[in-house]
Amino acid sequence: MHSIVIFASGRGSNARAIIDHFKTNGNARVALIVSNKADAGVIAVAEEERIPFLVIGKKTFGETLLVEQLMEYKPSLLVLAGFLWKVPDSLIKTFPEKIINIHPALLPLYGGKGMYGHHVHNAVLNARDAESGITIHYVNEVYDSGNIILQARCPVNSGDTADSLAERIHKLEHFYYPRVIEYLLGQ
Ligand code: GAR
Repeated sequence: MHSIVIFASGRGSNARAIIDHFKTNGNARVALIVSNKADAGVIAVAEEERIPFLVIGKKTFGETLLVEQLMEYKPSLLVLAGFLWKVPDSLIKTFPEKIINIHPALLPLYGGKGMYGHHVHNAVLNARDAESGITIHYVNEVYDSGNIILQARCPVNSGDTADSLAERIHKLEHFYYPRVIEYLLGQ
């Protein structure tokens, strides 16, 4: 049985989709949820699903103690699902090619520090792009620049708001992220 550790800072809808997917598919389970926000929606998801969770501070992130705590779960993958802090090099070195992220745009477009959630969707709308999408990629030392595993596209409709575009993007994320994880674990 593979263990997945999810890192999330927000509502946790991707975490929810991944948890639900592995209730009935594949030989994996979400073993731990790590968040930098004690009041994030994803913590409520963890509590509801009785999944252990860890709330970390900026100082703890990357320190030996956290790395050791993570090692205890023997994770096959560390999955960033709406996690907004940069992953420290120590973690990347400890888990090479085992950390993946989802970004709500077609990288290299609209990536980098500060580009998350509605900031991304507003930038896409301001640029009047005809399409947007999602990128699932490996995490390396530079924000949003690791090797791309999958991209999926959707139209940007006239009259779209950041909310309506986010909703379309979330649908893509919830479909593809669990399936990409299952694929990577099966390799
Ligand atoms: C997702 O859309 C994810 O792509 C985005 O945060 C959202 C989290 O939603 N991540 C980034 O913007 C990272 N730069 P969720 O909490 O409902 O899963």
